Amino acid sequence: MKKTARAHTNIALIKYWGKADAKLRLPLMSSLSMTLDAFYTDTSIEESENMEFYLNDKKQDEVATKRVFKYIDTLQHKFGVSGNLTIHSTNHVPTAAGLASSSSAFAALAGAFTRFYDLNVDNQELSRLARIGSGSASRSIFGGFAIWQKGHDDESSYAYALDEHPNMDLYLLAVELNSHKKKISSTMGMKDAQSSPFFESWLKRNDFELSEMIDAIKNNNFTKLGEIAELNASEMHAINLTAQPGFTYFEPDTIHAIKLVEDLRKRGIECYYTIDAGPNIKILTQLRNIKEIKKIFESEFNNVNIIKASFGPGISYLD
Ligand code: DP6
Repeated sequence: MKKTARAHTNIALIKYWGKADAKLRLPLMSSLSMTLDAFYTDTSIEESENMEFYLNDKKQDEVATKRVFKYIDTLQHKFGVSGNLTIHSTNHVPTAAGLASSSSAFAALAGAFTRFYDLNVDNQELSRLARIGSGSASRSIFGGFAIWQKGHDDESSYAYALDEHPNMDLYLLAVELNSHKKKISSTMGMKDAQSSPFFESWLKRNDFELSEMIDAIKNNNFTKLGEIAELNASEMHAINLTAQPGFTYFEPDTIHAIKLVEDLRKRGIECYYTIDAGPNIKILTQLRNIKEIKKIFESEFNNVNIIKASFGPGISYLD
């Protein structure tokens, strides 16, 4: 018997960057994301002699499997089920290049697990299970726009759909400037960021920025959505720079790309950037501007890979 789930990755417009509980992955703030159609993970689970994990058809070594097996062990304990499993994951996401592949990976894994053991969980509970694997995965259970409410314990910290089928002219251009594996994981980065003297201010702004973002979405206001998303991402990266010791995910090309977005905006081509735990930027824009933005980025950077994404669906099951 084999069970397969597909989950799409998501981009946070209001970021999760700080944990209240590292083991349960309870966040210090609520976050809001857009699920993306262009990037997803398919994960299948079947019975086997030994525990095995294959990523993109390659058997993974001990280091790579540790987090996945630990997660499976946690879920097996939680539900009182057992057995060795072979897990196959195919990532349709450039792995570890700042495109948050862990969001789709752990959402798909949680989905495949619950199907394999025939556990009767609804999407709210599934979101909580995905959250334990990786915080951002809690939001990938849902399509469109999703909110992960921080809650205060395992029961109350889950994501839900704000609008699964938004009727908004909004696109994301993932600009792949640097596809090297990132050096500081999100888990480590958000832990270190808490030493910033501005961390408390970052937390205090969460309620306000989240409600402004919800307003922007409800009023179909792209300008407001872009402005808040860009500010929120810049705050997250300012926290990193001012941590003690400070660090950054930015590379010289990241700054170059930020400046280019600012220049484009001055020229009337409306676009905004957001950046996760890696050097690549993602551009938020509208349909009429995509061609021009692509052309300009391709002429400014050598071998740049730009992938267009729009709204993606929530979790689905393939067998
Ligand atoms: C910058 O969900 O990868 O993408 O819970 O430690 O696995 P863990 O972190 P993860 O962090 C994502 C951080 C982010 C912002 C976001 O997606 O909200």
